[in-house]
Amino acid sequence: MSQKLQELRSAIDRCDHELHKLFHKRLTIVAGIADFKKEQGLPIYDPAREGKILSRYEGLEREFFQNLLRLSKKYQSERLFPYTIVLIGFMGVGKTSVGRILGEQLGREFVDLDEVLEKRLGMAISQYFSAYGEGAFRTQERESLKEVAKLDQLVLATGGGAVLDPLNVAALKQRGRLVLLTASPETIYRRLKDDGSRPLLGGEVNLERIKELVDKRKPLYEGAGELILATDDYSPDEVAGQIVQGLLQFDNKGASR
Ligand code: S3P
Repeated sequence: MSQKLQELRSAIDRCDHELHKLFHKRLTIVAGIADFKKEQGLPIYDPAREGKILSRYEGLEREFFQNLLRLSKKYQSERLFPYTIVLIGFMGVGKTSVGRILGEQLGREFVDLDEVLEKRLGMAISQYFSAYGEGAFRTQERESLKEVAKLDQLVLATGGGAVLDPLNVAALKQRGRLVLLTASPETIYRRLKDDGSRPLLGGEVNLERIKELVDKRKPLYEGAGELILATDDYSPDEVAGQIVQGLLQFDNKGASR
């Protein structure tokens, strides 16, 4: 290797060494902030602060800081929530939209079980339902869930029927905390009335059918959920914030595993 290249590489190594030290220093400060916010009951995720930091940079530098902030949030959320956050509940309560936002806020991966399943099935869930029926679907769902439940530190949205099987609940609880999102049948109807993708609600979404299914499932959902939040009057962003605060309180109460 030429002398020149060797010198440049040594300079890079010195630079990385400094970056490494600074990165750890930054993470230690972040941990201090997480502990302080937890003690004081302050919101963990602060988009205004994040925006302010990012506004100082442009182009590649901005991208660098975006990644740095994501890693900091991930580190913070691993300390605060050392488990997978599992969102459960009826269709239309917002599991997917809230889960996506929560994943971003916590710098962790968001997995939607229905999406995993559709990849596995090679077709839309509604198509699979009409071709093979609900029983076959639940078998496939159980298999996918078993795989996903082994992964750590995710935000995971389950399909509305996944926790009706106690074996699925037990698998999810091994590494996860189960957060039940709820909404009234009227809210669910309003959110889903133009959505034809839910085979269990039939072609035309109907309030009576929703009421009937919600009533039937309610005790099972409530038995599985460790934290319960009503989503009717809140945006997905607000619900994501409530989950963070709710889990902090829940864990503080000594319900730790
Ligand atoms: C189902 C809910 C759906 C999907 C399937 C069955 C259910 O998921 O898994 O249509 O039994 O409630 P979403 O709750 O995400 O709509």
